[in-house]
Amino acid sequence: MIVKVLGAAAGGGLPQWNCGCRNCTDARAGRIAPMTQSSVAISVDGASWVLLNASPDIRAQIQATPALHPRGLRDTPIAAVVLTNADVDHIAGLLTLREKTGFTVFGTADILQTLEANRIFDVMDRTLIPRTGFALEQTITPLPDLTLTPFAVPGKVALFLEGETVGLQEIGEQTIGLMIEDGRRKVAYIPGCAALPDWLVDRLRDVDLLLFDGTVWENDDMARTGTGEKTGARMGHLPMQGDMGSLARLAPINARKVFIHVNNTNPVLQPDGPERAALMRAGWEIARDGQEITP
Ligand code: MLT
Ligand code: MN
Ligand code: ZN
Repeated sequence: MIVKVLGAAAGGGLPQWNCGCRNCTDARAGRIAPMTQSSVAISVDGASWVLLNASPDIRAQIQATPALHPRGLRDTPIAAVVLTNADVDHIAGLLTLREKTGFTVFGTADILQTLEANRIFDVMDRTLIPRTGFALEQTITPLPDLTLTPFAVPGKVALFLEGETVGLQEIGEQTIGLMIEDGRRKVAYIPGCAALPDWLVDRLRDVDLLLFDGTVWENDDMARTGTGEKTGARMGHLPMQGDMGSLARLAPINARKVFIHVNNTNPVLQPDGPERAALMRAGWEIARDGQEITP
C-alpha cells in the first residue's frame, strides 16, 4: 500500500490566511514548512488512487503530486473520494473536482446528506460522479485489492451544522475513522476524534500505521496563543497532552504513529520546542505535505 500525505494541516492550513501566530509567522518566513489542509491519497498499484477527504487545497495538492495528474486529454487517476465527516476542510475540495470527469464519492448517509442539502455540490454531475452511501462497519472496495471499513469515532457535527446545543462526543455517522487494508498492511485514518475510549484504543491494536487527529496539544492552545477562546473539546478534537490525551491513551499501540490534521496554533509545530520533544519521545511523528509513508 502507498500512503501519500496531500495535506497535513487542520482547517485553515499553515499559515492560515488571517493568522499572525508564531507558527503562521514562521511558516510565512520560511522557518517552518507550510502545510495544506488535511487529505491523504492511497494506492495499491500506484496507478489508481483513493483520496481520503477533499480539502479546499486539493487543486494545489493534485498539482504537487504527479501520480494524480491526468494521463490523457480529460482523465484522472482518482477513482474515489471517501469522506470522514462533513467539515469544510474535508468537503469543499469536491467543488474543484467538477468539469465532467468521473469518480465515486463515498460517505455515510449522514455525511452525504450535507452534500444533498447544499445545492452548490450539484456542480458535480451525478451521472459521472455517483454518491455512494456506506453503513458503519460496511467494508467497501474502492480499488481492486483495497478495502476500507468505516467506523464511528467520538465527534460532533460540522461547525456550520451546529444547533443551539451540540453533542461534543457523539458516536454515530457524523464523524468516522477508516480502517484501510490491502491484504498485507493495515492502516487506520482518524483525522478528527473527540476522545479515546477503551473500545477505540482496542480497535487500533493491530494496525501497522496510525494517522491520527493532531489538532491541538492542549485543550486551550488557542487561548495560550492569544488566537481565540475556543477549546479543542468544543471543536471535537482531543488534546495530545494529558492523561486522556492521544500520547498517553495510544501509548500501548505499537504501530507507526503519525499526527495529521495539525492546527496552525499547535506548539508541536515548533521544531525545537518542548512539546515536539515530548511527542518524539512518545514515538510519534508529524505528517508533512508530500510525504509518502510505507506502512
Ligand atoms: C474542525 O476540524 O474542527 C473543522 O475543520 C473546523 C472548521 O470547520 O473550520
Ligand atoms: Mn477539520
Ligand atoms: Zn496561526
